[in-house]
Amino acid sequence: MGKGSGYGKVILFGEHFVVHGIPGVVSAIDSSTDVEVKKNTKLTIRDERKTAKGYSEEKKLQQIESIERMLTTMQLDPKMALDIWIGGSLPGFSGLGASAASSVAIARAITEEIGLNISNEKINAIAYEGEKAYAGNPSGIDNTAATYGGLMWFKKNPTGEQDLVEKIHVKRPIEIVIGSTGKTANTKAMVEGVAERKKKDPKKYDPLFKQAENIAAAGRKALEAGDLKKVGDLMNENHRILQEIGVSSKELDLLVDIARKQGAFGAKLTGGGGGGCMVALTGGKEVSGKIVGAFKGAGYEYLMTRIGVVT
Ligand code: MEV
Repeated sequence: MGKGSGYGKVILFGEHFVVHGIPGVVSAIDSSTDVEVKKNTKLTIRDERKTAKGYSEEKKLQQIESIERMLTTMQLDPKMALDIWIGGSLPGFSGLGASAASSVAIARAITEEIGLNISNEKINAIAYEGEKAYAGNPSGIDNTAATYGGLMWFKKNPTGEQDLVEKIHVKRPIEIVIGSTGKTANTKAMVEGVAERKKKDPKKYDPLFKQAENIAAAGRKALEAGDLKKVGDLMNENHRILQEIGVSSKELDLLVDIARKQGAFGAKLTGGGGGGCMVALTGGKEVSGKIVGAFKGAGYEYLMTRIGVVT
């Protein structure tokens, strides 16, 4: 049997903009997807992750396409008969990089099962191909976080060559709360929507993309300086431009609002938007606890965790 894992992630700055070559800041979280793979007589997928309602059903076809793409990239038969078990502590909530985490875990488990010993760099490249099934034209930020873990600065290389990935070092781990809208989103449709609107209305979109670039750079500096108030302000700014490019939702705005009212330094949607998750920077257990209490009271699921643990 082959086994593999991949980390979940939150994007602190730059989702969607990263697809177009703007840098972003991403952090792995301490929840992962774990996979076991055995050769079989036909393809079976046993997905036992805790998920938002309907997540597994909505992602099913993309999941099969993703596995076939990864097998092809590994120069294996895309219809290879495998028994794939998927579990682990990372919930199947849109926005947490669950698809990338599963792609990395599956790629690792398959290579172990067939006795291939391959580098993280190759696993990342294989998972990137798998991600195309879920995101259409992914930046690679999710699979990179899922493969390597840690807090990092990511910039897609538009030529398709090596992306820029730099570890970001923080003075101490930073407490965050993730809130889930409970709505599964289609990342591919969200990414395509932004690209179409950007093309149609460059006058509106170009300055927003420039702002996103400045926010990511300032966010990195503030993180490295340990200035959480500034990081939070910049996250709020980032959420505002994400609203302007049309990727937030009523529920995301509500959770962001709740988190800010309960004392978060800042809060924003994370990942593809259109549902999925948001992230609040709390800076401590007390504020995290208040936010979690308010989310619970309003009937939303959440995750309390820290970033910058593995640097
Ligand atoms: C999804 O977690 C992040 C997006 O920017 C897509 C991507 O970068 O591949 C929306």
